[in-house]
Amino acid sequence: MTSTNPLATALRTHLCGSLREAHVGERVRVGGWVHRARNLGGLVFVDLRDRAGLLQVSFAPGTATPEALAVAERLGPETVVLVEGEVVARPPEGRNPELETGAIELRAVSARVVGPAVTPAIPVARGKGEKLAAEELRLKHRILDLRRPELQANLIMRHRLLQRTRSTMSGLGFLEIETPILTKPTPEGARDFLVPSRMHKGEFFALPQSPQIYKQLLMVAGYDRYFQVARCFRDEDLRADRQLEFTQIDLEASFVSADDVQAVVETILVALWDEAGHAIPSPFPRLTWREAMERFGVDKPDLRYGLEIEDLSAYIGSDAAPFVSDAVSGGGRVRGIRVPLGAEASRKEIDAFTGVAKDAKAGGLIWAKRTEAGWEGQGVKAIGATALAALGGAPGELLLAVVGADAVTSPALHAVRSLAVKRPGIPQRLAHAFCWVVDFPLFERDTESGQHVPAHHPFTSPHADDFEFLERDPGRCRAQHYDAVYNGNELGSGSIRITDPAVQGLIFRLLGIDPEDQQRRFGFLLDGLAAGAPPHGGFALGFDRIAMLLAGAPSLRDVIAFPKTTAARALFEGAPTPVKAGDLQALHLTITD
Ligand code: AMO
Repeated sequence: MTSTNPLATALRTHLCGSLREAHVGERVRVGGWVHRARNLGGLVFVDLRDRAGLLQVSFAPGTATPEALAVAERLGPETVVLVEGEVVARPPEGRNPELETGAIELRAVSARVVGPAVTPAIPVARGKGEKLAAEELRLKHRILDLRRPELQANLIMRHRLLQRTRSTMSGLGFLEIETPILTKPTPEGARDFLVPSRMHKGEFFALPQSPQIYKQLLMVAGYDRYFQVARCFRDEDLRADRQLEFTQIDLEASFVSADDVQAVVETILVALWDEAGHAIPSPFPRLTWREAMERFGVDKPDLRYGLEIEDLSAYIGSDAAPFVSDAVSGGGRVRGIRVPLGAEASRKEIDAFTGVAKDAKAGGLIWAKRTEAGWEGQGVKAIGATALAALGGAPGELLLAVVGADAVTSPALHAVRSLAVKRPGIPQRLAHAFCWVVDFPLFERDTESGQHVPAHHPFTSPHADDFEFLERDPGRCRAQHYDAVYNGNELGSGSIRITDPAVQGLIFRLLGIDPEDQQRRFGFLLDGLAAGAPPHGGFALGFDRIAMLLAGAPSLRDVIAFPKTTAARALFEGAPTPVKAGDLQALHLTITD
């Protein structure tokens, strides 16, 4: 019973799912979970499962010992058994093409239960077409759900992507360096998780929202190229693509331009997509932020499709409705997309388009259908026949348009376009559409306070041509910031950093952080920048998002072993929990109502 299998142990020679026709005639020992068991009156068939897959084990009188037969007859689902037997070829009519082990079976000789199991709270084995249990229930019984072959495949894929990341980064000369988890707040736009200090009354550590400041300091310290598979913590509202704690492939490099950093990120992404079996071309196309907003209404455009936004404002004539001409003369615009074959859309579909536009805060949606005879629909009155005639258009098209300021029309048309590309007949130009979005604005206005806030984080260098606007007109200042976008998803972002402590101080001041506060919060960075800082820049890829997209999973929860719910709870282990009064006291904390 010798084996070259590195997973062979004292208890087993092979993994269940690894046996093939080449093993026929071999005596083997396997261990696994009972996926299904069928007792055909004396002859028992058991599908045994481990991480490599399923194996059919037959227990027949004559071949199996009486003890083994007695064990087989009582096997309930999810029991762990060790089986020894001979690999035999199945007769042609008994083969199962859906299983990788489907050409063989294990003819059991002996068997032993090593892990009895209570009746599982949710089924692991499902019949064809049988629905999954509700997600809450699956998250509560996470270990059972994690036994599902789909989730095992996702986590195995995640492992491979991580190994490929590490080998690629190391090959590019990046050093893997760990940064602290108990640290000081790092502003990335979310709330911090705070950890009270027992030894220092009234003082708190923060969990890192990202390793941003530390990786910059590593550049100052001369490490030149750093990377980390970094766990980040952000106390923010959760969605399918957000978790409280998540993993970044975080990197930073010295003596680089934005192009250098982007080339490194492209190398990683090409490698990761290759690991998942997809060949993708690089370099990726680049769009400025302004261009992305103009053509797609969003800073993470889905370039698999056309349906670009067009500006109709110049066509608006005297026959347009007053609400349209007034909006245009007041500085707004009429922008819209043309949906091929959209003229067949039903009233209900048009209502759905109107619904998403209104959800995105548009006052309404203008629509017109291009027939052989010309344009029809409420849009004719709104935009005016002159504008529509100037637009031309091909018969069969549906025009969907919004009027107003760009801040209104862009998000509304992005929502409308996202729905429109799901219609049948919309051509997909490519399956994997990557792009860079560059030259983001340096600041945004906080909708509540009206204050300038960093569009990303406050360490991003202003664009070389825009320094003059920094104090005069900060809203006009572009950043040396870039995002990697894939099929409408933000995969990651990065920038060239500020290395001049005076500029960093000025940015802090523009953000309302006075010099004393700067020293208190960021003194260690400012001192670092003053200690001889090389020009540097970097990037962080959202690793869970990448694993989710490459696994074809609908949620980050499907690629994280023990995730949180959207209600920010860990259901399986039951966290967060209240703590004993004594523990609070030791931390100098009291809970108030
Ligand atoms: P940023 O905040 O854009 O940049 O984060 C980088 C990427 O991390 C992923 N991400 C998340 N994934 C899951 N759950 C979350 N809550 C979550 N938040 C972010 C996204 C995002 O694109 N320090 C900078 C990077 C840099 O400048 O180098 C940073 O953290 O995919």
